[in-house]
Amino acid sequence: MSDETLSNLLHEERRFEPPAELAAHANLQAEAYDRAAADPEAFWAEQARRLDWAEEWTQVLDWSNPPFAKWFVGGRLNAAHNCVDRHVEAGRGDKVALHFVGEPLDPETSGTRDITYAELKDLVCQAANALTDLGVQAGDRVAIYMPMIPEAVVAMLACARIGAPHTVVFGGFSSDALASRLTDCQAKVVVTADGGYRRGTASALKPAVDEARTKTGPEHTVEKVLVVRRTGQEVDWDDAVDVWWHDTVEQASTEHEAQAFDAEHPLYVMYTSGTTGKPKGILHTTGGYLTGAAYTHWAVFDLKPDDVYWCTADIGWVTGHSYIVYGPLANGVTQVLYEGTPDSPERGRWWQIIEEKQVSIFYTAPTAIRSFMKQGREIPDRHDMSSLRILGSVGEPINPEAYVWYRHVVGGDRTPVVDTWWQTETGAIMISPLPGVTAGKPGSAMTAIPGISAEVVDDQGRPVPDGSGGLLVVTAPWPSMLRTIWGDDERYVDTYWSRFPATDERGAYYFAGDGAKKDSDGDLWVLGRVDDVMNVSGHRLSTTEIESALVSHPKVAEAAVVGAKDEDTGQAVCAFVILREEAGDGGADIVEELRNHVRKEIGPIAKPRQVMIVPELPKTRSGKIMRRLLRDVAEDREVGDVTTLADSSVMDLISSGLSKGA
Ligand code: WT7
Repeated sequence: MSDETLSNLLHEERRFEPPAELAAHANLQAEAYDRAAADPEAFWAEQARRLDWAEEWTQVLDWSNPPFAKWFVGGRLNAAHNCVDRHVEAGRGDKVALHFVGEPLDPETSGTRDITYAELKDLVCQAANALTDLGVQAGDRVAIYMPMIPEAVVAMLACARIGAPHTVVFGGFSSDALASRLTDCQAKVVVTADGGYRRGTASALKPAVDEARTKTGPEHTVEKVLVVRRTGQEVDWDDAVDVWWHDTVEQASTEHEAQAFDAEHPLYVMYTSGTTGKPKGILHTTGGYLTGAAYTHWAVFDLKPDDVYWCTADIGWVTGHSYIVYGPLANGVTQVLYEGTPDSPERGRWWQIIEEKQVSIFYTAPTAIRSFMKQGREIPDRHDMSSLRILGSVGEPINPEAYVWYRHVVGGDRTPVVDTWWQTETGAIMISPLPGVTAGKPGSAMTAIPGISAEVVDDQGRPVPDGSGGLLVVTAPWPSMLRTIWGDDERYVDTYWSRFPATDERGAYYFAGDGAKKDSDGDLWVLGRVDDVMNVSGHRLSTTEIESALVSHPKVAEAAVVGAKDEDTGQAVCAFVILREEAGDGGADIVEELRNHVRKEIGPIAKPRQVMIVPELPKTRSGKIMRRLLRDVAEDREVGDVTTLADSSVMDLISSGLSKGA
């Protein structure tokens, strides 16, 4: 972000006070900030009591071996019991848990239906029994590679119920990406579907699992593949490995006694991109994570018993874990689960669903808001969305224009907008306004929520004064923090805790990888990543990962990838590629060929917007690629300072090559 845009942002004068009615009955009041700050452990213990514990903890936090935290030490609980059974036991079995809206409009194939908590409990118990029959035991890893259908939620909760950590792999990822995750966490079972619906057509999933199994190599650990029949499309079948969901889960008993697990028992591993090519398996455990997800979902969305909640994320991302599965279900909410895309079969699809299901809390990403904004307000204006009372945003900074449009057009100028900053690693929302307390400023995530302490610091870890920028850190452990990177404690320490190690005065800080600014009121503006991680439509991608994909193509000698500003997606992937000599000019279709190659290797979300074939890459004398200069080219700006380049003529060579239309 340029300094000019930044100073425009910081001159944003608009303020939106909480509606009086909401403020008067808000779940959290302003006093919560001070109360939590005065005694964070007591505050978190109070939040943990939202859950049912089979055995209470003896110690709230064990931080004797930082940065390896233990929360609610000695406590025992079952996450699935907390998300399902206890609501049924409390007499709320008839409450709708999921309004499932399948993508095809045809009711025969869409599967559109309501699932109550009692029904969900039966399904989860059946799946838990079936997984146990397939040989899954507590501690075994189960991969889930599925479309957005109720069975995905059921599979996650069934794993939680039997203490088998799940690793959900986004259905849009390629077989290679799936294979590397299966290998890294040594999954024993994969739960998948024949396919899912996308824009009205069936798109296959099972073939990617078959391919991934052949790619996992000799250390291959997948014993069984459990397949939901969703689309009815043809699938290859291996009798030794594949089993149908309807032959197993749907035949299993609905009785299953949930056993309680230690608060620190692993709940799931979620892979996310880091600064190197190898994705990191972020490990979340049971008690602290569930506490964080349930508390934040209740506090930040001011959840009330009659709310109808809808989060548009996919279950393949952490947002789907914390704010479709664990937070909302732990809180016993009624929610919409939608399989489709925002604009299919028509552009008003989301608004139609909000109207039809009377959604009151809506949580989505800035990239979606911007694309609706472009289509104009006529489309949402055709729908009655007066049921909405709170709007949320997540995934990337929301620009003030999009924030104001969201509030005015979607929220009828009544609804607070909560801009929520968090990460796969943080497990739950960390920085956000509270809708009944905070006067919102368009573009600012405002302050750390009660219980969380965040700061913006300079290179030495000193808090910056109001009005200046620096690096975003979390200064104290929190219950839903990641516990480690799966199988790589050292990388966990290096990545997050070594930038600001403990000093005589203070403990180590968690370094988030984001830059941020404090405005003159001390409110936070998250500016985006300060490392080689890109954010495309709220999805995290690593430059190195895409570079490795490009270099794996036989015609490519070298590649450098940068994230360039993009009006729709926030950032877009721009690749600079040097071809191998023997590839000549690569052929007429080289650019498309390389774009599709990345798509195949990683998945559609990683497909570069632009591939530029260049004769050289700008490097420092020590051989480091100067991405800053490439970003200037990709964003069509005058190229900045080139004095530290080993060969300062390289940028001329690149620019002149590109202007010739290469
Ligand atoms: C990165 C985390 C959190 C779930 C979705 C993404 C960026 C996220 C915001 C926000 C500014 C944001 C950050 C962060 N980010 N939310 N409200 N304002 N930036 O999870 O894939 O782990 O990505 O997304 O850069 O570090 P993730």
